[in-house]
Amino acid sequence: RSTRAAEAVERLTRWHDDFPTPGVRFADLTPVFADAVGFHAVIDHLGDVAADADLVAGVDARGFLLGAGVAAVRGTGVVAVRKAGKLPPPVLSREYTLEYGSAALEIPADGIDLAGRRVLLLDDVLATGGTLAAAAELFASAGAQVVAAAVVLELSFLNGRARQGDYPLTSIVRR
Ligand code: PRP
Ligand code: MG
Repeated sequence: RSTRAAEAVERLTRWHDDFPTPGVRFADLTPVFADAVGFHAVIDHLGDVAADADLVAGVDARGFLLGAGVAAVRGTGVVAVRKAGKLPPPVLSREYTLEYGSAALEIPADGIDLAGRRVLLLDDVLATGGTLAAAAELFASAGAQVVAAAVVLELSFLNGRARQGDYPLTSIVRR
């Protein structure tokens, strides 16, 4: 199962140099998710991570596909962690720096009882790690515990893993 997911990622990822800015090598997983076998293998793999999580979260935008897919398989709810300005107040907000530029992530500050929840945090790619770390901090600030994080593709040379908290981080493929 994990081999099938990794094989699809290795075979179908579109790599593009100098996008969106010079010096960045962009990993586009669109063809992986468009492939029936690839998408289901990825969802099944991530769906086996952190059986003790009772809530799944996916990061805007590419992490939404994973969050929704995994939550559907596991029978949990899903939180869409949004880029700044998309949610009405009140919100919890965390700024972070990206491989290219900076941004902020937000979740609602009310309406979801996050205290004591056990969150599985998902995104497509781990690059510098700022995105995933900011998302995890949001849940921690709401009184939830990120019990695990998982990504499809980890760009190891950027050492994003070093920026994460004490939750285990799973990646299907490391490059
Ligand atoms: C990409 C990718 C991850 C993040 C990883 O998202 O989908 O979320 O960058 O980078 P980091 O580890 O250096 O923080 P991006 O912000 O480009 O937006 P998108 O998902 O909306 O396309
Ligand atoms: Mg993203």
